[in-house]
Amino acid sequence: MPQLGCRDSIGFLWLNCGLSDEGTPQGKCYVDHIAVDARFRGRGIGKVLLEMAEIDAKRRGCRAIYLWVATSNRAQHLYERQGYRKMEQYSLCGLLWCQTGEKEFARMEKILM
Ligand SMILES: CC(C)(COP(=O)(O)OP(=O)(O)OC[C@H]1O[C@@H](n2cnc3c(N)ncnc32)[C@H](O)[C@@H]1OP(=O)(O)O)[C@@H](O)C(=O)NCCC(=O)NCCS
Repeated sequence: MPQLGCRDSIGFLWLNCGLSDEGTPQGKCYVDHIAVDARFRGRGIGKVLLEMAEIDAKRRGCRAIYLWVATSNRAQHLYERQGYRKMEQYSLCGLLWCQTGEKEFARMEKILM
């Protein structure tokens, strides 16, 4: 019987790929979540997660990969270094975002060669 429960992990990336006309645009992949355990940040793990997501996105036939990031989040530096460019910026106050103090969000996208 397989064991269910928590496992140790130091980071994860959740990728959605647009395979139909609903949700994520067809032909694009969306990085829905990316996070690294605070004890291991700044060691290149986020970069590797993004690189793996790109490989996966290309394998699935996507020609672009994008994500949303709060404009106050320094993670933007990482995305820029990885080739993502700011495409648009929005003020959002949905869900609990306003309560966290995050109101401005940018969509950053990278064209996959
Ligand atoms: C963003 C994150 C996934 C990057 O992973 P990482 O392993 O630290 O990344 P790397 O070591 O490959 O690259 C370092 C870059 O990560 C980003 N970063 C590092 N610590 C961070 C932190 N506490 N919060 C946000 N971004 C951070 C910075 O852009 C940093 O580059 P800089 O030092 O030039 O500013 C990770 O820091 C994290 O989980 N942050 C908190 C959650 C978050 O902000 N997720 C992104 C939502 S869009």
